[in-house]
Amino acid sequence: MRAVQVTEHIWWVGALDWGLRDFHGFETPHGATYNAYLVRGETGTALVDTTKAPFVPELLARISSVMDPAEITLIVVNHVEPDHNGGLADVMAAIPNARVVASAGGVTGVADYHNGLVVDAVGPDDVIDLGGRTLRFLPMPMVHWPDSMFTYCLEEKTLLPNDAFGQHVCTDARWADEHGLDEAVAEARTYYANILMPLGALVSKAIAKVLDTGWPIDVIAPSHGLMWRGEGIDRILAAYGTWDASQRLEKALVVYTTMWGSTDMLARRIADGIAATGVDVELYDLAVSSIAKITDAMLDSRAVAFGSSTIHRGMLFRMAGYLHYLSGLKPKGMIAGLFGSYGWSKGAEKQMREALEPIGFEIPFEDFLVKAKPTAADLTAAEAWGRAIGEEVKARG
Ligand code: FEO
Repeated sequence: MRAVQVTEHIWWVGALDWGLRDFHGFETPHGATYNAYLVRGETGTALVDTTKAPFVPELLARISSVMDPAEITLIVVNHVEPDHNGGLADVMAAIPNARVVASAGGVTGVADYHNGLVVDAVGPDDVIDLGGRTLRFLPMPMVHWPDSMFTYCLEEKTLLPNDAFGQHVCTDARWADEHGLDEAVAEARTYYANILMPLGALVSKAIAKVLDTGWPIDVIAPSHGLMWRGEGIDRILAAYGTWDASQRLEKALVVYTTMWGSTDMLARRIADGIAATGVDVELYDLAVSSIAKITDAMLDSRAVAFGSSTIHRGMLFRMAGYLHYLSGLKPKGMIAGLFGSYGWSKGAEKQMREALEPIGFEIPFEDFLVKAKPTAADLTAAEAWGRAIGEEVKARG
């Protein structure tokens, strides 16, 4: 296993998790990587982040392809979440003489995750000179956890922002432009929607904070997926600028789950009605759709029609599961409509409302409910209900 040279003095020494298919609920059909980087100066070498615990041998093997790991003088913990530093204690055992630093929040996090382990705090006023290669540190609380921090190497003009600008994709390419910029930005968008969506305002502030430093950036080297350089840097910075609640398009989603097909019939006609207004529409059956991709689609949509058949006076479990997933991500500034079929008792709509209103969805439409199987008149009405959603989306543009 080999390191990959990133700049004259920086090497990628991360781990490839080709087989990962689930990142606590976020499906990862293309796997994931846990990137770590060596920054080599004349008098010292820093290892920026380690890896998920099972991948420590891979990390050490890659480091060994360029240097003896025992000669590393500094370990930087940008983020204590176990995908990046679950293996910290094992790595420290192989690199016994290195100083270990983290943000102030990271110091607490390292102790919490590693049995009281004590490391040094660094912040924006600290400068670590590795001998011609200088490291600076920017605390970035909540990008993604309170402890998160960006590291910057002045001479290599390289930003090491941990979770920010990452993607869950495992490939033999290390650079976004090698993989294809369009696809890399699309992967970054799915990652942003499913990991960073609730933190969008803080992420935007973090980016402004980095740009305010005036530090030139030739390379953005995140801790997941592909690295950005050249046009890729412009593309990913511009994309991050659009992925917040103020950038919603004339687009609506129909997200539903069905028991005997009646709610499916309604969903399709509602989608027809939305489309008839000229609003873009995407339809997702929760039984067969990727949760991550639905959430990605929500990033620039203004409205969602949520549909569930009623079972036991409530919603079907797939809708309950998805709304719980969404409750953590809290999309902002969105409207919703509720629909579905029922047998002897209604109830799914009540549970969906109880889940959606605390998330922040406004529900300005009457619920659209049909008993048993929709009649032709019901389907015509469903299409009209969809038109009303489409018109409201346009009105709020
Ligand atoms: Fe990739 Fe917040 O860890």
